[in-house]
Amino acid sequence: MDFGGDIGLWQRKIAECQEGTSRRLAVFEALGIQSGQSVLDLGCGAGHLVRDAALATGDTGRVIGLDASEEQISAAREHCASLDMVELLTGDATNLPFEDEKFDCLASIQMYEYIDDVDAALAESARVMKPGGRAAMVSVLWDHWRFHGAEPELNNLIHNTWRLHCPHQMLPLELPVKLKAAGFNGIAQRPIAFINTHMHENAFARWASQLVAAFALAQAVEAGKVAAWLQQLETADREGRFGFVSVPVLTTATAL
Ligand SMILES: C[S@@+](CC[C@H](N)C(=O)[O-])C[C@H]1O[C@@H](n2cnc3c(N)ncnc32)[C@H](O)[C@@H]1O
Repeated sequence: MDFGGDIGLWQRKIAECQEGTSRRLAVFEALGIQSGQSVLDLGCGAGHLVRDAALATGDTGRVIGLDASEEQISAAREHCASLDMVELLTGDATNLPFEDEKFDCLASIQMYEYIDDVDAALAESARVMKPGGRAAMVSVLWDHWRFHGAEPELNNLIHNTWRLHCPHQMLPLELPVKLKAAGFNGIAQRPIAFINTHMHENAFARWASQLVAAFALAQAVEAGKVAAWLQQLETADREGRFGFVSVPVLTTATAL
């Protein structure tokens, strides 16, 4: 996905909204970062978790954020500008530019499900972690990610199109076996599910609906249908019958 312009803005709104903040907090707490540690955030986006981690490691630590998108890394550099212990790099999670056993902690929020060769990315993640290092990642159960309130046929069209945005729809259910094969143990999972019943300015659903609409247009869904879908969600919101459901899953593991 191109993260310039409105897409970048909506992605940042998603990271900063209530639900974005709570999944970041879940990862932050699971990592148990200590002063002076080295932390890697894979698919760091606009650098919100990198900043939180850097404030925890302090000046004696090192926090590296890596993302495939130049636009995301540029936003992250702005967000972390005052923090000298932060380094931000463009790169690919399947081919990390780090030596073996470099990091105490590894974080990744909603990145692995976008990588075709997720096993290669997990093997690279394991390679760069110190033995006993802690990993915490969030991926979404996309089969259960759904807006409610638009007319069913139109709603199905938009959701079926959205499925194309991500190659792994149910990655959390595959992760335990994959993580074990990559060299992790102590694997645990918990859902951090949420619902939105309104599309207020601080709700995940408000900004996600814009991303979904832009993706549908890029997939050549008729502009009138995309506009009607957004309009119907707004009407449902005004009438008190809007809903949005998502089930992100926090997975934690320890490097062998
Ligand atoms: C949904 S965004 C999440 C961003 C951030 N972690 C957050 O929570 O706001 C997914 C991110 O993964 C990045 N990404 C996708 N494939 C990648 C890859 N192979 N290597 C590194 N980053 C990747 C994208 O560029 C994007 O910034």
